[in-house]
Amino acid sequence: MTSPAEPNKQQSHSPEERDRRVLQLHNQLLEIEERLIPTGLHVFGRPSEVSERADMLRMIASFDRPEAGARALQDLVSEGLQLGVYNEIVKAADADETKARVRQQIDEIVSSTMKAFVDSGVEAAVRMLSERAKVSDEQSRPVFDLLAKISVQLETNSEGEALLRALRGEYIEAGPGADIVQNPFVLPTGRNTHAVNPYNIPSAMAFARGEAVSNNLLARYRAENGRYPRAMALVLWGLDNIKTQGEGVAQALWLLGVKPVSDALNRTTEVEAIPLADLKRPRIDVVMTISGIFRDLFSPTVQLLDKAVRLVANLDEPEEMNYVRRNVNEQMRESDCAFDDAVARVFSNAPGNYGTNVNFMVMDSQWDREETLGDLFVTRKCFAYGRDSSGRSLEGREARVAMDRALARVEATYQNIDTFEIGITDVDHYFEYLGGISKAVEKRANARPAIYLSDSLSRDAKIRSLEETVLLETRAKTLNPKWYEGMLNHGFRGVAEIENHVSNTFGWSATADAVDEWVYTEVAETFALDDSMLERLRSLNPHSAHSLVRRLLEANGRGYWNADPDLLTRLHEISGSLEDQLEGVG
Ligand code: BEZ
Ligand code: MG
Repeated sequence: MTSPAEPNKQQSHSPEERDRRVLQLHNQLLEIEERLIPTGLHVFGRPSEVSERADMLRMIASFDRPEAGARALQDLVSEGLQLGVYNEIVKAADADETKARVRQQIDEIVSSTMKAFVDSGVEAAVRMLSERAKVSDEQSRPVFDLLAKISVQLETNSEGEALLRALRGEYIEAGPGADIVQNPFVLPTGRNTHAVNPYNIPSAMAFARGEAVSNNLLARYRAENGRYPRAMALVLWGLDNIKTQGEGVAQALWLLGVKPVSDALNRTTEVEAIPLADLKRPRIDVVMTISGIFRDLFSPTVQLLDKAVRLVANLDEPEEMNYVRRNVNEQMRESDCAFDDAVARVFSNAPGNYGTNVNFMVMDSQWDREETLGDLFVTRKCFAYGRDSSGRSLEGREARVAMDRALARVEATYQNIDTFEIGITDVDHYFEYLGGISKAVEKRANARPAIYLSDSLSRDAKIRSLEETVLLETRAKTLNPKWYEGMLNHGFRGVAEIENHVSNTFGWSATADAVDEWVYTEVAETFALDDSMLERLRSLNPHSAHSLVRRLLEANGRGYWNADPDLLTRLHEISGSLEDQLEGVG
C-alpha cells in the first residue's frame, strides 16, 4: 500500500502523529489477527476440529442472543468492570491509546474465559467471569449454557445420513439457512436450509439491521465526499437474503426511505414511505441488480422493490430530499422518455438465464479492454422486473437503454457480505457482480464509483471500501500461513483453492483496479519463488500451480503489477518448467 516512508518525512512527524500512526497500525494488526478464517475446506459428513470449534464459539459469544437470554461477552465484561460501552471503546480505540488498552483488557478476559469454557466447561467459565469481571451468574450462565449446546451440535454431523435419505426420496427437515455465527440455530447441519417464505422478507430483525448498515454506508460516503451519493447500485443475491432473512432487501428499502408493510393475509406485499422528518436525510436512488436465483426465489420481493422505487418517485417532495424523484424527472426531461422507462431500477438476467459471465471472461483471459467486462455485465443483466404504471408485469423485458441511463447517475456501488465463510476472494461471484457493475458504472458515469462492502463479522455493521476488503482478505487468507497450510492439507483441491484466491484477486484488478501491486509481489514470493513451496504445489497439483504463475504473468502483462525484471524472468522460467512437467517433458 505505502512504500517505506522516506527518512526526512519520518522526522517531520510530530510525536503525536507518530503515536497515532503506531496505534492505527496496532489496530489493523489486531483486526487481521482476530479475523475468523476457515482453516481448511469443509469435508462433507465430518464435524469441525476442536480448535476450529473454539474459534467459532468465541465468535458466537461476541453477539447478543436475545432468543436465548444471552448477552455478548464483551458487553458483560465491560459493564461488569464499569468500563463503558464496548462498541464505543472499540471505535475510540483507533485514536486513543488508553481506550486501546481498555479494549485489550476486555478482550483478554473474554479470551481467558473462553479458554476456561473449552477446557473445563460451564462452571469454570461462570466462576472466572465473576472473579475477573464481576459478572453475575444470572448473566453469564445463559451464555455458556448456550455455547455448551452449540458445542455439542458442532460435534455431531448428520450430513451423510441426510443425503442418503434425500436420495431415497425421504423428507429432509427444514432448518434456517444462515451463517453459524449470526444464527447458531442453523445447527445441526444436514437439514434443508433453503426453505424460505418470500412473503416474510425482510424479517423485522433484518429490517432493524438494515438500518444500521445503510446509515453506516451513507456516513462513510459522506465522510469521503462531503455529500450523499445521487444514486447507488446494489447487488442482491438469493442465498444471502435467505440466510439473513432479507438484510440486503432491507438495506435497499432503507436507502429509499420506505418500510415494508403486511397486507390482510400478513404477507409483506406493500411499502410505506418513512416521513422525511423521521428519515432526516434525502431518499437515495438505488439501482438493484439481482441474481437469477433471487429473481426465481423472491418473486414477491422483486415486486416489493419495484413498488418501493415507484412509490418514492411519485412522492410530492422537494427534489433535493428525494433523489429518485429528481433523477426520474431529470431523465424524462433529458431523453424525452416515459415515466416507466425512467423509473426502472430492478434488473436481472433474461427469464431462465443466470449469471453475468464476467467471471468466465476474466478466468479465460478472453478480453482486451476492461470496459468489455462492464458491457458484458449490462448485456446479461439489463432485463427489467416489476410492473408498469398500468399494473402489467414487465416479466424481464429487455431495457438496456434504461439500465445504461440509471447506471450513469450512480456514484457508489455496494454488496452485503453475509458470512465469514465466503469472502470476496474465495469465489469468483463477488467480482463478477460487484466488480462487473462497478466497471459498467465507470464507463456510463464517466467516473469510477466508490465501492463498498459490509462486514457481517463486525458487531457494529462496519463498512469497508473494496480496497480495504481486498487487503484484509489478502492478509487474513491468501498470504496467511494458517490459511494456506490449512488448504494444503487438502492436497490437490487445496492448491486449486490457493490458485482460485489469486485469480479472484486478479478479478478485482480487472474489474475495479482495486489491488495494490505488493499483493502480487508477495504472492509471487510466497508461492512461486520459495523453492520448497513451489515443489509442494507442483507435486500436489501442477495444473493449479501453473495457472497461478500464469495469472501472475497476466497481472504484469495487463499493467496491474509492475514486476521486478529478475522476478519476471524467474516466473517465466517456472511457468516453462511447469508446462514441461504437464506435457510430460523432462
Ligand atoms: C445467489 O445466491 O443469488 C448467488 C449465489 C452465487 C452466485 C451468484 C448468485
Ligand atoms: Mg486501470
